[in-house]
Amino acid sequence: MSMLSKTLASTLLALLASTGAMAAGDPGASITRPVGYKPLVGDAALGEKLFNDPKLSTNGMSCASCHANHGAFQASFAKPYPHTVAMAKDQLGRKTVYLDEMVQGCMVMPMAAKPLPWDSKELAALTAYTASLQKTFKPAR
Ligand code: HEC
Repeated sequence: MSMLSKTLASTLLALLASTGAMAAGDPGASITRPVGYKPLVGDAALGEKLFNDPKLSTNGMSCASCHANHGAFQASFAKPYPHTVAMAKDQLGRKTVYLDEMVQGCMVMPMAAKPLPWDSKELAALTAYTASLQKTFKPAR
């Protein structure tokens, strides 16, 4: 390998590593915000429709199958983001997540689907709607 291509290769590697895109070894990459990501302002009413839509999953589930009436949310949901969510930590190695990353986490884990495009109105809408659910969430004690 020439000097130049060696430099190029190591620059590329450093770049990939810094984006968290060394995907093969990083199960959390698919739910990690891309570099330079600017969250869109979402439409919570559209988010509520999507939340109840089983077409988002590949297994017949909708978000509401588990989360209707604040179901399946643990005490962590009451905390400001980013915070630790046990499922994302245990299954995807993500120490802390943002809310949009956790929407993606439930897309890829319980919904058995692909993550939504980061620049989609669907992701923004689900994030806005779940943010509204968080406001009225009281952890069980
Ligand atoms: C099969 C059940 C199931 C489905 C379907 C599901 N989730 Fe979840 N979700 C969970 C569980 C379980 C947790 C809690 C994980 C934990 O605390 O370790 C969770 C956690 C979350 C959290 C993070 C709560 C926190 O503590 O910060 C959000 C936000 C969320 N889900 C949104 C969604 C959205 C949006 C959808 C649909 C795209 C969805 N979920 C679909 C089971 C589900």
